[in-house]
Amino acid sequence: MGPVSRSDLGEEGRLHLAYADKTLVTQIDGLGAASATTPQTDWLTSSATLLTLVVRMLELADIDPGDRVLEIGTGTGTGYFTALLLCHRLGDKNVTSIEYDPDVAAQAAAHLDAAGYAPRLVVGDGLQGHSEGAEYSTVIAPCAARTIPPSCLWQLSDAGMIITTLSGWLLASGLVRLASCVLS
Ligand SMILES: C[S@@+](CC[C@H](N)C(=O)[O-])C[C@H]1O[C@@H](n2cnc3c(N)ncnc32)[C@H](O)[C@@H]1O
Repeated sequence: MGPVSRSDLGEEGRLHLAYADKTLVTQIDGLGAASATTPQTDWLTSSATLLTLVVRMLELADIDPGDRVLEIGTGTGTGYFTALLLCHRLGDKNVTSIEYDPDVAAQAAAHLDAAGYAPRLVVGDGLQGHSEGAEYSTVIAPCAARTIPPSCLWQLSDAGMIITTLSGWLLASGLVRLASCVLS
């Protein structure tokens, strides 16, 4: 399938796609969807996460008002958008989201602003966490990490949780929830 633009879809088609339970690819090997004119076959480098996966990760996170959440992999803010849902539930000041691609991060910032939300948005490597916003009660990482990032473990609160997609060999992937506990 080739690239699809808003003008191709119309408003109804766009909403249909946004609410469909499909991963919407927004960047391939660094090429943003808006710049693509022909079908691309390289590696997917950014996407709007599958709707049911967004919901599943948020269910596993079991967040409550007052929690502080770090998201790794803000994405573009297209589709069913984790950072926005977190802001809606917890308030802007309790949400930090990191994206390492500056263009993708700028799109997310614009989409969040248009929707009236202003979480702490950071451009950088989320695998280092973001110590200024710590401690976090939850780290959510829909960015297909290869391992659990140690920095994020250090930035968790005592009963904190990490929920991440993990990717492995032969395109295998899984969903992991790690809960920290205090041994006394
Ligand atoms: C699946 S998309 C994010 C989807 C988005 N959170 C949503 O709700 O639809 C993953 C994003 O993670 C970003 N990413 C991947 N590795 C990262 C890292 N180490 N630090 C920060 N962002 C990263 C990619 O650039 C991509 O935009």
